[in-house]
Amino acid sequence: QARDLVEAHIATIPDFPEPGILFRDLTPVFADGPAFHTLSESLTAPFDGEFDVLAGLEARGFLLAAAASALCGKGVLTVRKAGKLPRPVLREEYALEYGTAALEVHEGELPPGTRVLIVDDVLATGGTVAASVRLIERAGWHVAGVSVAVELADLGGRAALAREFGDGLRVYNLLRY
Ligand code: PRP
Ligand code: MG
Repeated sequence: QARDLVEAHIATIPDFPEPGILFRDLTPVFADGPAFHTLSESLTAPFDGEFDVLAGLEARGFLLAAAASALCGKGVLTVRKAGKLPRPVLREEYALEYGTAALEVHEGELPPGTRVLIVDDVLATGGTVAASVRLIERAGWHVAGVSVAVELADLGGRAALAREFGDGLRVYNLLRY
């Protein structure tokens, strides 16, 4: 089963990057052909027929969006960390533990109304995904849903997204801890 194959390749590291944090490391999933293939397939399957393009969130989301793109035949919108894109951008800031970070997309990168499926490795506080949803909506596109490999339920990302965007935003995880 997809879930078991992927889970078998997730490494769990206590006290990284700080004491008390249990880090879920997906690099062994990326390093294993069948596990990576299965994960990439499983992220788009629940949204079959509902999206036109994938959004990969820099950096780890790029891997998953690119792999899923090759499997489903849809393109990738690169949602980049600030300062990387050469043409006029939309920018959304989000909170980090200390300070803020920002994500950007090129305005006009996709036609108005394009249905975008957001893909990332981990949903934690939801700040990264929320900024991406705001960007996609401001750009005039439609968020078809959010698909993540791992949801860290204790960090409240799902609830934060529901508060900001309502219950209509569908959030799928392959694995939940
Ligand atoms: C990590 C992870 C998610 C995000 C989840 O990315 O890949 O994108 O944090 O956290 P959140 O739900 O609290 O926003 P990170 O910003 O560490 O960088 P990377 O993907 O570039 O490694
Ligand atoms: Mg990330």
